Formats: sequence, C-alpha cells, structure tokens
Amino acid sequence: MSTHRTLVVVAHPDLATSGINAQLAAAIRDIDGVTVREIASVYPDRRVDAAAEQELLRRHDTIVLQFPWHWYSVPGVLKEWMDQVLTYGFAYGAGGDALHSKRLQLVISTGGPEAAYTPTGHNRFTMAELLRPLEATAHLCGLEMAEPLVLHGAPRATREDVADHAARYRELLSAVPAAAN
Ligand SMILES: Cc1cc2nc3c(=O)[nH]c(=O)nc-3n(C[C@H](O)[C@H](O)[C@H](O)COP(=O)(O)O)c2cc1C
Repeated sequence: MSTHRTLVVVAHPDLATSGINAQLAAAIRDIDGVTVREIASVYPDRRVDAAAEQELLRRHDTIVLQFPWHWYSVPGVLKEWMDQVLTYGFAYGAGGDALHSKRLQLVISTGGPEAAYTPTGHNRFTMAELLRPLEATAHLCGLEMAEPLVLHGAPRATREDVADHAARYRELLSAVPAAAN
C-alpha cells in the first residue's frame, strides 16, 4: 500500500459560484491518501492559521495548488495563504527546509483559450512565462515542480471536456511518483 500523501489546496474565492473548480475538487476527493482543503471556506475572513497549514504541509509529500487563473496569477485567496504560510524559517531562509524535495503540482483553470496564451495571441504571453513567479517560489522553497495541469477556456468547456479533464486529474493524483515508491 502506498504511503504517499497528497494535500490538495483548493483556492477558489467562492466555490459555490464555481463552474469548474468545484467539479474538479469533487472528482479527486475520494482518492486514497488525498486530503482536500478548501481554504476560502476554512478561512472566510482570510486570516490563515499558519501553524496549522504548515503542519499539514509537513505531513504530505505532494502539494497540489488548484485554482482559477485570476489576472494572470493566483487568486487573492491563494496569494494571502502563500504570504502567511510560506514563512522565513519554514519555507525558505535559515532552517526553512520543511518543503524540500516535496512535489508541487499546479492545477489551473483559465478563461482564455490555449491559443490566447501565445506571443501573437490575445494574452500575449505563454502560460510557462506567466508561471515564472510560481516556478521561482517552488525553487526558493526546494519544491520539485511537476508539469502544471491546465484547463484552458474553462467557461466554455463542455460537460465532456470537464469529465475528460477530471479523469486526467484523478489519474495524476492516483499515480504515485516513482521517487516515493
Ligand atoms: C477576477 C477574475 C480574474 C480573471 N482573470 C483571468 C485571467 O487573467 N486570464 C484568464 O484566462 N481568465 C481569467 N479569469 C477567468 C477564470 O480563470 C475562469 O472563469 C475560471 O478559471 C473558471 O473556473 P471556475 O468555474 O471554477 O470559477 C478571471 C476571472 C475572474 C473572476
């Protein structure tokens, strides 16, 4: 039996209004070894219990950040969580090695279609370029960043698109990374 543990931080400002992220979270909730944490409902006033979050992070091997793409970045609820949880001495700096060698998996939904995220497209920059700050964060924290799972054009996704994507997400979380075997 696998002892690999995955923490899924679902960061949607209001999951009740979500067309996509609520469905994605529901699709992976029952996987063995997976803990789902919906931070906007745990912290409606956005005052995060950093010690509790840090303890959870320590106890898991893969950290999934699942969120809708807001202004080419993470939504405010996730930025606030990061600001309060990824502190000096925990995530970086002297003694800050709690996340070293853990795996970071980003799971992102965007409004724009994939073609918009190209140099000549509507959004001008590629997702890889726009994800550089998160890549830098992973690097500073010693996290190994996996290939992000992105659902583009989320508001126009058909029921079948969402089902396919949810199946890919499930597969990703069900497969135990080789390093953890
Ligand atoms: C405040 C806000 C900012 C957004 N910014 C972007 C953006 O920069 N790029 C983009 O492709 N979509 C953007 N969107 C669209 C969302 O990414 C999209 O609606 C979301 O991924 C759908 O997921 P949901 O149904 O779970 O909310 C934005 C939406 C909101 C509400």
